[in-house]
Amino acid sequence: MDADTPSARLAFALDVPSFDEAIGLVERLKPHVTLFKVGLQLFIAAGPRVVEAIQAQGADVFLDLKVHDIPKTMEHAARAAGSLGVQYLTVHALAGPEGLAAAVEGASDHALTLLAVTVLTSHSARSWESIGQQSRPAASVAHLGALAIAAGCGGLVCSPLEVAQVRRDLGAGPCLVTPGIREAGNVGDTQAGADGADDDQVRIATPSAALAAGANVLVVGRPIRDAADPVSAAAHYAALVGGGHRTGIDGQFRASGVAPSAVSTEPA
Ligand code: C5P
Repeated sequence: MDADTPSARLAFALDVPSFDEAIGLVERLKPHVTLFKVGLQLFIAAGPRVVEAIQAQGADVFLDLKVHDIPKTMEHAARAAGSLGVQYLTVHALAGPEGLAAAVEGASDHALTLLAVTVLTSHSARSWESIGQQSRPAASVAHLGALAIAAGCGGLVCSPLEVAQVRRDLGAGPCLVTPGIREAGNVGDTQAGADGADDDQVRIATPSAALAAGANVLVVGRPIRDAADPVSAAAHYAALVGGGHRTGIDGQFRASGVAPSAVSTEPA
């Protein structure tokens, strides 16, 4: 994929507490959204059957569990996620080269793209330092991102403010997934738009800015979930992203274990 001509998909963050609420949203939004992100809250509450129920609706699943453990456990976790048939699984780059390589090995039997999280966007420079990190967060993002791609991860989760630099550093190969997407105004009367008092996203960008910076998948949650009309908000974001109706996925990000050319150590 050429970063200059992004072909992005919209991922809707199913940040709801129960199976019934999740599947109700999938049924309503599936004309406009084909990729649903299941995070820790929903997966712990509802378990793998929520993944199967989303897939039964003809949609794809992005399992956002931010796996971070010893290498064998990461390998088994990635293999289990692959067996569920999910398209994406998040892992922490802080697990290091061995843990990431083990996860890549676990994913390799399946059409599963591993996405590495580098520095959680909830960290400030001070909180990053408080856990013993000597580098500034931006330097850690660059270091951990390169490490994750070299270990064979298919992409990274980046804040909208990081995505352009990460794309410049790592080239067109990695799949860059960007949360923190907000429109300048309140789309669909969302109660959690960029100006909303209940919105904790501070590192935000509009869909077009994130795409221009090189993002491949945009994650949108509250601006759709909390809109007065979630279906029309989803349609709106899908139109902006340009990929909401796609049923397939770009195969290149599925090649877990294949280092992207941008960081390949092989001669050209
Ligand atoms: O509601 P909102 O659009 O902010 O949803 C963003 C989603 O992306 C949430 O599920 C959130 O947990 C996730 N996320 C994030 N920032 C990261 C990684 C994941 O906001 N760095």
